[in-house]
Amino acid sequence: MHTILVIGGYGFFGERICEALARLEGVRLLIGGRDIARARIVTTRLGLEPSHGIAIDARATELAQRFRDLGVDSVIHTAGPFQRQDYAVARASIAAGANYIDLADGRDFVAGIEQLNAEASERGVFVTSGASSLPALSSAVVDRYLSRFSRLDSIRHGIGSGARSPGLATMQGVFGYCGKPFRRLVDGHWQTARGWLDLRRYPFPEPVGNRLLGSCDVPDLDLFPRRYPDVRTVTFHAGFASAPGHLVVWMASQLVRVGLISSILPLAAPLHAISRWLEPFVSDKGGMFVSLEGVGLDGKPQKLDWHLVAARNHGPYIPCGAAIALARKLVRGDSLPRGAMPCVGLLTVEDYLATLQEFDIHEVPA
Ligand SMILES: NC(=O)c1ccc[n+]([C@@H]2O[C@H](COP(=O)([O-])OP(=O)(O)OC[C@H]3O[C@@H](n4cnc5c(N)ncnc54)[C@H](OP(=O)(O)O)[C@@H]3O)[C@@H](O)[C@H]2O)c1
Repeated sequence: MHTILVIGGYGFFGERICEALARLEGVRLLIGGRDIARARIVTTRLGLEPSHGIAIDARATELAQRFRDLGVDSVIHTAGPFQRQDYAVARASIAAGANYIDLADGRDFVAGIEQLNAEASERGVFVTSGASSLPALSSAVVDRYLSRFSRLDSIRHGIGSGARSPGLATMQGVFGYCGKPFRRLVDGHWQTARGWLDLRRYPFPEPVGNRLLGSCDVPDLDLFPRRYPDVRTVTFHAGFASAPGHLVVWMASQLVRVGLISSILPLAAPLHAISRWLEPFVSDKGGMFVSLEGVGLDGKPQKLDWHLVAARNHGPYIPCGAAIALARKLVRGDSLPRGAMPCVGLLTVEDYLATLQEFDIHEVPA
C-alpha cells in the first residue's frame, strides 16, 4: 500500500482530490487538517476508516516525525494560501523520505521550489509545486502545440470560473495581490501590471460565452519565459462567473491602486460567503483558454486557441487533475524525476484530462 496524506483534505480542492484517491487501488489515504471532526466527516463520506481522518497542522514543528509515524509515502499539500508560506511542509516531506506535491499558485513559491532540489535528489524523492491548472495544465497545453510553431511569440491564457466559488484559501491568495503591481513580459519588455485590473472581455466557446477577466499574478509569468525562450508576451487573466461580482472586486482593486486602501484581503471571507449564497443565480459553466501566437512551420503567422469548457459546476475538478494524475503515477511506480521542480513538463494534456473523464468537462482542441 502507498500511503498518501492530503493536508487540507476536507478543503474545497482537497476533498475533491480525496474523492478520486479514495477509489484508487493500492492507496491508504489519510485526510488531514486542523479540525479532526471535519476530516472524519469526509473519511466517513468516502467509506474510509474514521482513523484515516487526522488532525495535523502544517505549521507544526516536528512535522517530519509526524509523517514518519503515520508511514506517509507521499504528501499532497493543499493548505494555502501559499503566497506567504515557506517550504516547511516540503522540507518535512523530504526529511521523512516522502514525495511531495502541492497546488500552489504563488508565483515565487512555485518557482522557488527548485531550491530544495539537492535535498530531494539526495533523499531520492519527487517534489513538485504548482500541481494544478497553473502551471501543470497550462504548460502541458503549450508543450502539446509547440511543434506547430517555428517561433512562438506569445502565450495568453486565462480562466473564467463557474458559479461554485473555490475555497477561502484560493480567494485569499488572489485577493492578496488585487490592485498591487507585478511584473509580466509584454512585447519583449518586462512591464508592470496590477492584480485584477486590465479589465477585458473574453469570448469563451458556448455554452460559457463572454466573460469579464482581470490580470493575475501567477507562476506562469516567470516560468513560461524561461521554458519557452522565444516568447515575448505571457499574460494570464481570470474572472468570476458573475459580472457584477467581478466588477465589485475590480472596483475594490482600484482603491488599492490609488492608495485609498492597502489591501482587499479582509474582503475575502465576506465576499466568499456572499458568493456561496449567490451560487444558484450564477452560471454553472466555466472555461479555460490558452491562445498561442507566432510563426507557423510554413513561415506564415500562426494563431491557435485551445479551450476547456466545464458545465454543471464541474469546473472545480479541473485544478485537482494534476495532483490526482501524479499520485496515480507514484502509486503505479511510473517513472517520475527525483528532485524538486515546478510542475511543468511532468504531465501531458491527456494525462491530465484522463482524471476528469467522469465530469461534464470538454476539451475544444486548437
Ligand atoms: N495553481 C492553481 O492553478 C490553483 C488553482 C486552484 C487552487 N489552487 C490552490 O489550492 C489551495 C487550496 O484551495 P482551496 O480552495 O481548496 O482552499 P480551502 O477550501 O480554504 O482549503 C484549505 C484547507 O487547508 C486546511 N488548512 C489551512 N491551514 C492549515 C494548516 N495550517 N494546517 C493544516 N491544514 C490547514 C483547511 O482546514 P483547517 O483550516 O480546518 O485546517 C482547509 O481544509 C489554495 O491555496 C490555492 O492557491 C491553486
